[in-house]
Amino acid sequence: MRVLLSGGAGYIGVHTAIALLEAGHEVVVVDDMSNSSLEALVRAGEITGAGIPLLVSDIRDEARVRTFVSENAPLDAVIHFAGLKAVGESVADPLRYYDVNIGSAVAVLKLMAAESIPTVVFSSSATVYGQPERLPLVEDSPTGLDLPNPYGKTKRIVEEILADAAAAGPGVRAVALRYFNPVGAHPSGRVGEDPVGVPTNLMPYVARVAVGELERVGIFGDDYPTPDGTGLRDYIHVMDLAAGHVAALENARPGYEVFNLGTGVPISVRQLIAAFGRAARREIPSTVLPRRAGDVAASYCDPAKAWNRWGWRAERSIDDACADAWRWQSRNPQGYRTP
Ligand code: NAD
Ligand code: UD1
Repeated sequence: MRVLLSGGAGYIGVHTAIALLEAGHEVVVVDDMSNSSLEALVRAGEITGAGIPLLVSDIRDEARVRTFVSENAPLDAVIHFAGLKAVGESVADPLRYYDVNIGSAVAVLKLMAAESIPTVVFSSSATVYGQPERLPLVEDSPTGLDLPNPYGKTKRIVEEILADAAAAGPGVRAVALRYFNPVGAHPSGRVGEDPVGVPTNLMPYVARVAVGELERVGIFGDDYPTPDGTGLRDYIHVMDLAAGHVAALENARPGYEVFNLGTGVPISVRQLIAAFGRAARREIPSTVLPRRAGDVAASYCDPAKAWNRWGWRAERSIDDACADAWRWQSRNPQGYRTP
């Protein structure tokens, strides 16, 4: 298949590009580079030996994107990663989040209709489940629009838009992938997560502490009703997640479907810090802080649907993810800007 990756220079996009190219597919990328680096795609090209055509553009720029798509026709599918993902920023600037995240999804669906591209795979998030009523989370666990931040709401709304577009357009294949917590890096240590500024997510924060750039990890609460009192999450290695996209594309059916992409294994904040310490062979200093507003005690999935339908499941452990994240972080302490 020849696949357009919107936001394909970003963290998950570039790992998925590598997985697709290694599975024999072709990729082309549209990215406005607002949260990514050209160097990521250069390295993905080096790892795979493939050329990756790139258009630097907002995916909502219809004229430019259509010209690029016709130059690279025929395309079989779009994987829509492009969007804004900072939860706190979405609370401060909600209109920008609705504008970019919903506008870009609508632009992708219009492009697909105009260029006869049948399949779309969308980066949704476990955040759409909000406060879980029951664990593990399955695809028909309740979701809602009463989510605590605009970021999560945009994911929920785009899922609805995809379902409507698939219902209206015969032959449209739309798949929403609800990612749990993506972590880790390509095992080469050449590409990985490169957040701008101080990371807000746990694994990249721990990685910066391990490399000596930040002093200590703040543990957001140790009084949750969990085995060690810290939050439980389902951390999925980004290369497993990437393989999940390949499976989704290869098995997409007409209509709209949703899949959890996680491991099913709950890991606590303390367990993750300990695992990273083992990978980096050093003590990771930490301190307990108050709970973070909007956090849930526990979030992890039952990944059985993707296994039953596609034969896909996560193969890598939290220790694998920490080893790969450490290789990336220690070799590239300033991310893609490392000299
Ligand atoms: P990322 O920021 O690294 O990648 C997003 C890419 O989209 C960036 O390269 C950015 O430059 C590009 N982009 C943003 N707006 C654009 C626009 N209007 N037009 C073209 N390109 C644009 O983020 P990521 O971690 O790779 O996440 C990819 C997707 O997965 C996002 O939609 C995100 O919300 C979703 N997601 C991420 C996580 C996570 O923990 N990383 C979890 C759940 C869902
Ligand atoms: C966060 C977002 C979620 C988004 C996901 C992926 C919030 C409230 N949720 O999920 O919407 O889809 O990222 O980008 O921001 N932790 C610490 N110290 C830290 C950082 C985190 O203890 O410095 C804890 C958190 O309380 C949580 C766990 O580590 O228990 C994971 O946090 P994080 O990596 O931010 O992911 P989520 O909160 O699950």
